[in-house]
Amino acid sequence: MEKVVYVGMSADLVHPGHLNILKHAASLGKVTVGLLTDAAIASYKRVPFMTFEQRKAVIENIKGVEAVIPQTTLDYVPNLQSLKPDFVVHGDDWKEGVQKQTRQRVIDCLTQWGGELVEVPYTHGISSTQLHKAMKEIGTTPQIRLKSLRRMLAAKPLLRFLDIHNALSGLIIENTRVMTELGPREFDGMWGSSLTDSTAKGKPDIEAVDVSSRMNTLNEVLEVTTKPIIYDGDTGGKTEHFVFTVKTLERLGVSAVIIEDKTGLKKNSLFGTEVAQTQDSIENFCQKIQAGKNAQATDDFMIIARIESLILGQGIEHAMQRAAAFLDAGADGIMIHSREKSPDEVYEFCRRYNALPNRKTLVAVPSSYNKVYEHELQEQGVNIVIYANQLLRSAYPAMVNTASSILQHGRSAEVDSQMMPIKEILELIPGGK
Ligand code: SPV
Ligand code: MG
Repeated sequence: MEKVVYVGMSADLVHPGHLNILKHAASLGKVTVGLLTDAAIASYKRVPFMTFEQRKAVIENIKGVEAVIPQTTLDYVPNLQSLKPDFVVHGDDWKEGVQKQTRQRVIDCLTQWGGELVEVPYTHGISSTQLHKAMKEIGTTPQIRLKSLRRMLAAKPLLRFLDIHNALSGLIIENTRVMTELGPREFDGMWGSSLTDSTAKGKPDIEAVDVSSRMNTLNEVLEVTTKPIIYDGDTGGKTEHFVFTVKTLERLGVSAVIIEDKTGLKKNSLFGTEVAQTQDSIENFCQKIQAGKNAQATDDFMIIARIESLILGQGIEHAMQRAAAFLDAGADGIMIHSREKSPDEVYEFCRRYNALPNRKTLVAVPSSYNKVYEHELQEQGVNIVIYANQLLRSAYPAMVNTASSILQHGRSAEVDSQMMPIKEILELIPGGK
């Protein structure tokens, strides 16, 4: 009887290395490809460029592939248990790193019925990592970028965003990556903060930087990045104006806008009740949400309603009433804000919010309750965590320190070791030479 062969793959950017593995697999028997779902891929690396359906269409048309089934986890074991293959074929590049344990579990599982793991030598000269880098250099389109937030939300339990205020901050978010035991970690996208954009322009965070100017910042960032952007829309302004903002953001490829349920002269939320701030009526804010939703040209753009009840000391009940009303009005999600040092009130909100029948994306901004870990927010049901201002807050003291040191010493040598070397800044942005 023909042998059963199983190959697990992501097959996002298919290259000769994949074909080599499939060819080898086909020489051993009848090949079933376990195609990793978006969620399975996102559990250890970025969300794939192509959707599951697109990747499936490619793989099932490759010579020697008999069947394509979804593999819903990075772990092969569930599919192996049901297929009981004679062989599992994989590249030999997973012996170290994130997939090391996955590999061991495959070996252990196969011993149950005498199956064998066959490892094909890694194809040198081409890799998904290289292709990914090349794709980043080419850039993205507004349409793809806009949609990417919804795709990420569908594939990952928690997304992390960080503040932008110029192109350079965007590049930092685009490129910063660390290795952890659970695989590489990076930011999923960028938060177009009104506070840091205004501050970078030397203006207070009171909607004094007009929408055109905010769009200039976005354009700068969009030029040099590919990750999704969530735009801080402040109050959204007048409903009649908000509809134009929505259209502009969509055209640019911004994925979402968050508007807060305040009215009149907006002040930054982190002042709390130290300044006079008025919350909009539920009725009026719902109309604004509806008008925004009606103005959208795509189904992908998201309008997220931000609730200021906890900031203004109105309590959970007040916040919940608004959450329910805003979702009913068509909001694609809720951002709950708090300026408490403890996350307790946010957690209490999360518990109640999670019970809503039409619960949608939940966003939290742990600026004041900054001791919470992302995994704790995730356990509470938070879908997006926004680090709203940390990049600018770290840049400013560093720059003041340098300015002071130069003044103090009458030269720059003393502070030189705290700065990036000249060679590095010259090479930071490629193409300068
Ligand atoms: C911003 O980053 O501008 C925000 C979050 O709106 S906060 O500053 O906390 O209000
Ligand atoms: Mg803001």
